[in-house]
Amino acid sequence: MQILSLSAQHISQILKIFEDLACSYEYPLGSQWGKSSLEQHFASLGGCGLFKQDELCAFILHQRISEDLIEILYLATAPVEMRTGHMKKLFIYFLNQVATSSEIWLEVHAGNLGAIKFYKSQGFCESGRRSKYYKGTGDAILLKRLKS
Ligand SMILES: CC(C)(COP(=O)(O)OP(=O)(O)OC[C@H]1O[C@@H](n2cnc3c(N)ncnc32)[C@H](O)[C@@H]1OP(=O)(O)O)[C@@H](O)C(=O)NCCC(=O)NCCS
Repeated sequence: MQILSLSAQHISQILKIFEDLACSYEYPLGSQWGKSSLEQHFASLGGCGLFKQDELCAFILHQRISEDLIEILYLATAPVEMRTGHMKKLFIYFLNQVATSSEIWLEVHAGNLGAIKFYKSQGFCESGRRSKYYKGTGDAILLKRLKS
């Protein structure tokens, strides 16, 4: 297992995880992540991924908003690899190597209780709510993690 910074060369592996999630995941995936939006993302923004051999198992995409503020745009683990601790490991890397001394913001579907439980286990707390944010399917909860 290894953790690496992600770049445009990993787009096809990220898309594969999105495809697998689309088949098995009951909440909207958030913003529409496709090949061109990922190309745009990696033109200026970053991410990190956990690999088993050469296979991407989990990823975090983020943008730095200011010196001490980072937004997580999306994170996911491949469905067949969920609940094996991959995101917990990747998040430790993310905190130590990417988001050092930064506050972290993100938003999540209010019904996505698994992800919310994960975020709370990592020190996030609720900072707001966007009513009906996900086009008819529910609210978005805003979470933030203070800098450590
Ligand atoms: C949320 C997500 C990233 C968690 O990834 P993961 O690799 O399965 O998480 P881990 O195995 O590292 O779990 C760490 C802890 O988070 C919590 N957790 C993770 N998934 C959970 C779930 N479905 N239900 C309840 N708790 C969960 C647990 O406390 C877990 O520890 P435990 O397994 O010892 O109980 C994964 O479920 C996922 O990709 N979901 C679909 C995409 C998504 O919702 N992204 C967030 C959009 S904002």
